[in-house]
Amino acid sequence: MQAQIDQYTEEINTFSPANSDELEAFRIKFLGTKGIIKDLFEQFKTVGPEEKRTFGKVLNQFKQLAEAKYTELKELLNSEIESRTCGTNSEIDLTLPGDGFNLGSRHPLSLVRLEIIDIFKRLGFVVAEGPEIEDDWHNFSALNFPEEHPARDMQDTFFIKKNNGKDDIALRTHTSSVQVRMMENGKPPFRAIMPGRVYRNEAISARAHCFFHQVEGLYIDENVSFADLKQTLYHFVQELYGADFQVRFRPSYFPFTEPSAEMDISCTICKGAGCPMCKYTGWVEILGCGMVDPNVLENCGIDSKKYTGFAFGMGIERIANLKYVIRDLRLFSENDVRFLKQFKTEII
Ligand code: PHE
Repeated sequence: MQAQIDQYTEEINTFSPANSDELEAFRIKFLGTKGIIKDLFEQFKTVGPEEKRTFGKVLNQFKQLAEAKYTELKELLNSEIESRTCGTNSEIDLTLPGDGFNLGSRHPLSLVRLEIIDIFKRLGFVVAEGPEIEDDWHNFSALNFPEEHPARDMQDTFFIKKNNGKDDIALRTHTSSVQVRMMENGKPPFRAIMPGRVYRNEAISARAHCFFHQVEGLYIDENVSFADLKQTLYHFVQELYGADFQVRFRPSYFPFTEPSAEMDISCTICKGAGCPMCKYTGWVEILGCGMVDPNVLENCGIDSKKYTGFAFGMGIERIANLKYVIRDLRLFSENDVRFLKQFKTEII
């Protein structure tokens, strides 16, 4: 029995657990209800009376040794776990590298919209908004669209309620409707841009969509001339694309402006040399514009003898295309993260 105890004492003294499982195995082996110490005490009952005295002491010392070793090791393990987990006393390892933040990026159309707004804001334009569901008056009639104008046709417009023409309700086909609302509800001078989503009844393809985004602009005051219109838009193009782009105006027609023009810039992709983006002409159209028709001013309660003004409108998708060369319009509205995350946020 003494030899056995010596052997166990040696084992206890050299015991060094790697984890709490090994320590628990140690406790069960020595101190458990079916453990070695319990067993030694059982054997102790059978020894003779004179051995009892010496062995009693040895056995008690052995028991105390095992208990002290267990308590000491348990405390040591606990403090180790604690320092590894920064005091939370759980098995979560806070020293592991964390999950990175997935920062989103702005949609390319938002980036371009914000850039356009920023340029016009610096010229003193304010931002105006209006409803996407419009009545005939604001979308067409006030803007001098003749009754039989093809843009009122079912092919171009999504009608929500089709009545007799003047009571029709539709999804707005341009944000010129916001210009009408602004002129009706205020007094000149007006200097504002109208960004927003517009809808047209077109088959969806790489080059056309049933909705897109516009920024339109309106400037009404005394003595506003076509020269002001040209200079404002020259400045806009310079700010957006840089100084080395050519600009040209071509005569055009819109019911609500007279005279009307379309503005082209030298192709941003090939710089005028000719490429598929400009259909090998070297020019791309970026906006429509003109002097607000006196009829429109009168329709909105503005004295057309006193006031003149210009208006313009551009598609944000077109501007974004020229900046980022996106060949399929549908990508703008498909919410594909692989597409969207390529656009670094330049404006916060
Ligand atoms: N409203 C026109 C369109 O949607 C654009 C435009 C606005 C043209 C203002 C001239 C003046 O196509």
